[in-house]
Order: sequence, then C-alpha cells, then structure tokens
Amino acid sequence: MTLLITGGTVIGPSGAVPADVLVDGETIAAIFAPGAGPAGVETLDATGKYVIPGGIDAHTHMELPFGGTAASDTFDTGTRAAAHGGTTTIIDFAVQRTGEVVQDGLAAWHTKAGGNCHIDYAFHMILGGVDDDSLKAMDQLVADEGVTSFKLFMAYPGVFYSDDGQILRAMQKARDNGAMIMMHAENGIAIDVLIQQALSRGETDPIHHGITRPEALEAEATHRAIALAEVAQDCPLYIVHLSASRALEEVAAARDAGRNVFAETCPQYLYLTLEDQLGAPGFEGAKWVCSTPLRSKHENHHRDLWKGLRSNDLAVVSTDHCPFCFKDQKELGLGDFSKIPNGIGGVEHRVDLVYQGVVDGKLSLERWVETIATTPARMFGLYPRKGVIAPGSDADIVLYDPNGRTRIGVETHHMNMDYSAYEGTRSPARWTPCCPAARSSCPAARTTAPRGAVSTCPVACRATWCDGDAYRKALHRWSLRRRQRGPAAAGLRPGHGR
Ligand code: URP
Ligand code: ZN
Ligand code: ZN
Ligand code: ZN
Repeated sequence: MTLLITGGTVIGPSGAVPADVLVDGETIAAIFAPGAGPAGVETLDATGKYVIPGGIDAHTHMELPFGGTAASDTFDTGTRAAAHGGTTTIIDFAVQRTGEVVQDGLAAWHTKAGGNCHIDYAFHMILGGVDDDSLKAMDQLVADEGVTSFKLFMAYPGVFYSDDGQILRAMQKARDNGAMIMMHAENGIAIDVLIQQALSRGETDPIHHGITRPEALEAEATHRAIALAEVAQDCPLYIVHLSASRALEEVAAARDAGRNVFAETCPQYLYLTLEDQLGAPGFEGAKWVCSTPLRSKHENHHRDLWKGLRSNDLAVVSTDHCPFCFKDQKELGLGDFSKIPNGIGGVEHRVDLVYQGVVDGKLSLERWVETIATTPARMFGLYPRKGVIAPGSDADIVLYDPNGRTRIGVETHHMNMDYSAYEGTRSPARWTPCCPAARSSCPAARTTAPRGAVSTCPVACRATWCDGDAYRKALHRWSLRRRQRGPAAAGLRPGHGR
C-alpha cells in the first residue's frame, strides 16, 4: 500500500517543517515539499496536524508479578491502550527473579508477549541476582538476543535488590560488552528501616509510602550509582523514573563532567504530588503508590524536572506503566501501606501529558518529540528505524491534532485499570474536560486518528519560542559533552498492528 500524508507539519530534530510524507507498506519512502509528492496515490489529509514519529515508551511492566499480584495490563490490553495514545513501540522489562536462570526469564516474557502485542516491542532485562551465571548470561543476551540494557535495583531488598558489589560487577560486565545499566536508584535498606519504624508508630496510610522514601535516599542512591559506574570505567548508566530535584542535581553534575550518565522521568513526577494524590483521604492515596514516590508540592520538583527535560539532563519521558486495579489489588495494602503493590498506569497518556508541557510553554515542540520518541530510539538502538520521520524509517507515524480535546479518565481510557491516575487532575492542565463529541469519535487506532491533548493555545508558539532559546543554549552545552550510544539492536519484535 502506498499512501501520501499531505498538508501536515513534520516535527523532527531540525524543527517543524511543512512536508508531505510518502509511505510504502510499512516504511517511509520519501519526504516532499508540500504539494510535490506523486499524483495518483491514496492520500491522507493531515492539514493542521503534527506528523511525528510514533511514541516509544522505554519503561513498561505489562503483567509484572509484584507484591503478591500482577500488573493488570496484559501485553494485549496494554499495547492496545498504548496505540490509542500515540505510542507505537514499548520496551518492557523481562524479569530474572532471584535464583532463576536469566535466559528462562527472558523466554517467559517472550511467551507472554508473543503474538499478543498490537505494536512493536522489545525487552530490557531485569537482573534479580548478580552472580557468575547471570554475568555470563549478560554476554549471551547482548550477543544473541539483542538485549542491550539491564535493570538493577538498589531498592526492594529481598525481591529485586542488588548490593553495591553486585552492581559493580554487572557494570563492569556492561562496560565490556557494550550494554547499558538501568538503575532503580533508591536506598532500599534505609527505606526498609523507615517503613518498619512508621508501621510500628501506627502510620499505615498510603501517604507514608512517600514519607518513608525521602528525596535524600533517592539522591544518595543516584550519587552512588554514578560513582559505581565511574569505578566501572564509565559504564553507561541510565537512571530510571527519576522523581526528585536532588537526584536530578546528581545526574546534571555527572553530565556536566562529561560522564556517560542519562536519566528518564515519568509524567506522574511532572504533574502529581505527595500531598494531593498520595495524601488523598482514607485509602484513596493507594492509587498513586509507586516507587520512586510522588514528591512534595511544597518543593520545586515539577519545575526542576521540566527544566531538566529542556536541558537534556533528563533525556527521556517514559511511563513506568505498572497498573494495578484499586479493587482487590491496591486493596492488598489496606491497613499497611507497605503491602500496596507499587505502580501507576499511564502508557496511554504519555504523549498527551508531555505535549501539555508544550502548551504551557515549558518545552519546545522538538523536545516533545525527542523525549517521547527520538531519544529513546537512540538510547536503545532503535534509531533511525524508529524515532524519526525520514526515508527508510518504519512508518510508525502519529498524526497529532494540537487543537484536539482529550478527556483523561477511567470511562474513556483503554488500559485495564478501574481508575485513572490522572482523573480530575486540573489546573494548569487543559486536557480536561473534553467535549463528548471528541470522545465518541475516538476510533480504535490513534495512529490514524489524531487526538490532541489540549484546547487551542494562542500563546503556545511564543512561549515555545522563548523556551526554545534557553533549550538551544543548554543543548549546545550538553551536546559537546554527550557520548550517547545506541547499540545495534534492542531485540525488537513486530506487533501485529491490529
Ligand atoms: O512503582 C513502580 N515503579 N513499580 C514498578 C517497578 C519499578 O520499580 O519500576
Ligand atoms: Zn523501578
Ligand atoms: Zn519500572
Ligand atoms: Zn478508542
């Protein structure tokens, strides 16, 4: 099938460019000046729309077993929801549990995902135990399976936790075989002490999940991870789900020193707070129990994280999509916050939520596309097949309507969750409420059904422009020092595209 997408504005590394895009089968065949494409082919009118590469969510946990239950989205439901939100590739986490063979864990996750994904998918590997066998397995996964990123945990003692010696050994191995170490950076040993002390004082409500995971223990672990990566001769390090200003300072200092250190944040850390969500009355706050936790609105985390996205100290926005239903799943922690399964669902809303930053003048259009698609593609070896609108790239194209309306809520979302983490979230966000007409016109695949996040914003351009100047300055500074690497593969597998 040949298709000419006409009249749209392509957003790419060099800015916003009016262009027509010719698609041949599953590949982008050519880009033309407006009106200069071939005649006689089927056309799709994208007038008024942004033409962007399909989103890549580099951090999801479909079906993850956790806290005595499992994440409620399967690869089927989760990837369908992702497609509705303009995400066309996920990189999920296969899990080696402590004591298990690494390759068995990867095979188990391939069994879960195989044939069930609507969009393309790949895996990082969680190492639940670093020993001689798993270190050998790292080499094999890099060489034969296309897995080039391994997640370790400084948190969750007794579950996924690795001590500093294990982390150092894995980093040395990654340094040698070209892999990337992804780090859940929280001091889990100290956190467990705080949790026991809180529970013994009778502090059992969900907000204590956040209070017992203070910023200092995220910053400390981030610092330690960076130091260990330095000792491992600058092994590439990617800090996942960074939530706090002081952790970001650690990353920024490392990047300023030219280190091979990267970080992602997630929409929940850009919009939600310890007090307003985790501190909701009664047990309601359980909906927002995730680790790292939501941070205090009385500090400047949101402001600092948006700034980090502008300056590329934060390179990627992923979701850490790990949904649990409130009923029966989050409720496992009634009377004891430490038993609430950790995780928030959001795979469907990442593209919209980051676009809200463009509307609010916090991010340029280019940075929006970079953080949701281009940089994750580069980081995990998918570029230029993914992450860019260019001849030869996969035709994972999103037509995004900046004047569209979206209502984020449990009634309209496609994720297998009985609540929405973003339900009723208001000011300053403009993505709620939507007009019912926009809702009812939502067809089954957003890649051909654009849905913008916002109402028309007459000041968006000006704000973006102002923002862009600061961004360009910062990017220039960082790009001189950055040694971003993209190993040749991420074990990518095709979704069935339905
Ligand atoms: O709360 C979270 N983040 N749950 C998923 C597991 C992880 O730590 O990424
Ligand atoms: Zn984590
Ligand atoms: Zn995660
Ligand atoms: Zn729909």
